[in-house]
Amino acid sequence: MSISAPERIWWRPLNKEEKIWVVVALCWGIFMFVFMIAWHGAGQQNVPSTTYRISPAVFAQEANDFIAKYKTGEESGRAVVEPPPGGEAYMVARIWSFDPILVLKKGETYRLHLSSLDLQHGFSVQPVNLNLQVLPGYDFIVTVTPTKAGEYSVVCNEFCGVGHHTMVGKIRVKE
Ligand code: CUA
Repeated sequence: MSISAPERIWWRPLNKEEKIWVVVALCWGIFMFVFMIAWHGAGQQNVPSTTYRISPAVFAQEANDFIAKYKTGEESGRAVVEPPPGGEAYMVARIWSFDPILVLKKGETYRLHLSSLDLQHGFSVQPVNLNLQVLPGYDFIVTVTPTKAGEYSVVCNEFCGVGHHTMVGKIRVKE
């Protein structure tokens, strides 16, 4: 026994249901394409940021100057720093810590400089939906305006070695 089908162009004829699906898929594709571009400009999900090249040594120096200038205390061996409202703030990622502990004021806008001194880390602020990559060699400046007072944990979510799960930082937002 043999099974044979007549020679034909595979998509012909196109029946009614198939035509509807093709049109729906095409319209959806176009909608998604336009929406993606529109949302890039109009959406609230994009973090306002600028990035510059910087060597880890220079970044470490700038961050140390910042810490020395605005340090208000210490907590379990870690500097607590309160930058001037509306000013620059630094957070340094390295294996396996985030420094310093930042104290920010609710409603004020800060330019938060993020960089890594060694390898790639993540910067995920819990419990808010902010999740960024931190790379050595780049000063990633994020404009942030905390809207709610409280304690926020900064979690690294790029695997960075055996201490990855212990890499936790802190941001405190006060009224
Ligand atoms: Cu740093 Cu994982």
